[in-house]
Amino acid sequence: MELTERMHGALNDQVTAELHAAHLYLAMAADFEAQNLTGMAAWMKTQAQEELAHAMRIYDYINTRDSKVTLKSLDAPPADFGGPIGAFKAALEHEKKVTGMIHRLVALAREEKDLATESFLQWYVNEQVEEESTAQAIIEKIELVGDKGTALYLLDKELGARGGGKSG
Ligand code: FEO
Repeated sequence: MELTERMHGALNDQVTAELHAAHLYLAMAADFEAQNLTGMAAWMKTQAQEELAHAMRIYDYINTRDSKVTLKSLDAPPADFGGPIGAFKAALEHEKKVTGMIHRLVALAREEKDLATESFLQWYVNEQVEEESTAQAIIEKIELVGDKGTALYLLDKELGARGGGKSG
């Protein structure tokens, strides 16, 4: 069953938005590498991979619905995020923006009476709750212990232990 034109356009834009998020988190990883914060860089690289997976999930869904994906250009992300607190605050702001996009997609799916897409998007609704909560928790931790000296060293180590991260 083909997507409606509006639903198709909006999902297509979300593929680009998720790729943009991957691009942004990879830029944050690069900024952390330059500060020798390899744990935080690893965390952001995992995050970038998750965003790529988010994009691919929608890409596959569009194809399953007999519609075609059209990619758009990505804006260059910043190169300097102002240290750990600046980067994680920017990450949280970005996630809030994405949450708004996902909620608008759900509203559109309801308008279009596209129950399958509404159900497909539920995974993203839940994922966004987790994404915002994770970023918020890291910001609180940095604010609690500070982002200098031993505290920063230990936090970097802790974030580097994220491993493969959660699925998605
Ligand atoms: Fe794809 Fe971080 O939301």
